[in-house]
Amino acid sequence: PRVIFSGIQPTGTPHLGNFAGAIRQWLNLQHDPDEKCRRFFSVVDLHAITSPQHGQQLRQRKRETLAALLATGLDPSKSALFYQSSVPAHTELMWILSCIASTGYLSRMTQWKSKLGLSPDTTLQDGGVKASLKLGLFSYPVLQAADILVHRATHVPVGDDQRQHLEFARECVTNFNHAYGPHLRSPQTITSSSRRIMSLQQPTKKMSKSDVDSKSHILITDTPEEIRRKVMAALTDSVNSVSYDPEARPGVSNLLDILSIFDSSGRDPAQLAEDLLNRSLMDLKQLVADAVITGLQGIRERFIDFLSADEGRYIDWVEAEGARKARENAEETMAIVRQAIGL
Ligand code: TYM
Repeated sequence: PRVIFSGIQPTGTPHLGNFAGAIRQWLNLQHDPDEKCRRFFSVVDLHAITSPQHGQQLRQRKRETLAALLATGLDPSKSALFYQSSVPAHTELMWILSCIASTGYLSRMTQWKSKLGLSPDTTLQDGGVKASLKLGLFSYPVLQAADILVHRATHVPVGDDQRQHLEFARECVTNFNHAYGPHLRSPQTITSSSRRIMSLQQPTKKMSKSDVDSKSHILITDTPEEIRRKVMAALTDSVNSVSYDPEARPGVSNLLDILSIFDSSGRDPAQLAEDLLNRSLMDLKQLVADAVITGLQGIRERFIDFLSADEGRYIDWVEAEGARKARENAEETMAIVRQAIGL
């Protein structure tokens, strides 16, 4: 039977990129007719502390992230929703994987470089890097691999920016199984059909929760007015017609990518551009704002309701239930792993 695992960092409310790249796929996977299919979606708080966090704020954001996931339609009777730190097996397996993961491979990964604002071809040896790079940020992909492997996931639905981390997880499986026998299962990546969603203000950068400019991202809990204001203010270019060319026209193409996510007839961005050939950029923005507002309709209201339901205890109850299922599933793997290693 299929086992689905994916994660999201509680560093802010999920945005349109998270929705397009990941959450939308998670929702579709709930319709899998396979009765035995198990689904685990984790709010990865241990990954979030690779950048500085305030305890009180992190606690609040974890609850908000879980409430936002429920508001999109994730159903706790079909999907276990839990905080990563509630399942200690994730960190236990991480340590074990650390003992077979190579620092050479990790040093080529691009995420720690981009989080430190370094270029992708920076090496560990470059001046100052070794001193400022925290071990946790460097080994971030090892914890991510443990998240996936501890649940024996067969499929991992993520946005395109996570590909490199998934390849690393498969590398960990190869190394572990070579050393200890064929106990871990190699996961398949499922990526959404859409390209990564870009910042509305700097369309050559990906849309990100940590971007301080609130106009750069649309949160899935934004009001219709906020959504319209942000779309209308999106950076485009000076050619007042519609065409799809991500290289030459990143801003306009990003709007078409967004429109395509919500297009009821399932047209891809290039097709949409053809259909909108004679329209102005103002028209395009109006269409995008309408589509996003309709597509996210109801999420905001449900988000607020979930957060306050049963005086806030509902969220904690959902999490406790999800964590119990996740611990049980992870424990099965750990029993095999400990046995194989001699622990
Ligand atoms: P995170 O929290 O950055 O993002 C959660 C999911 O949203 C996708 N995503 C995007 N997709 C399209 N366009 C964008 N602009 C965009 N921004 C984010 C991401 O691809 C991701 O699927 N390392 C992961 C969390 C994680 C994880 C895991 C994922 C931890 N352990 C195990 C899968 C399996 C992360 O930081 O996601």
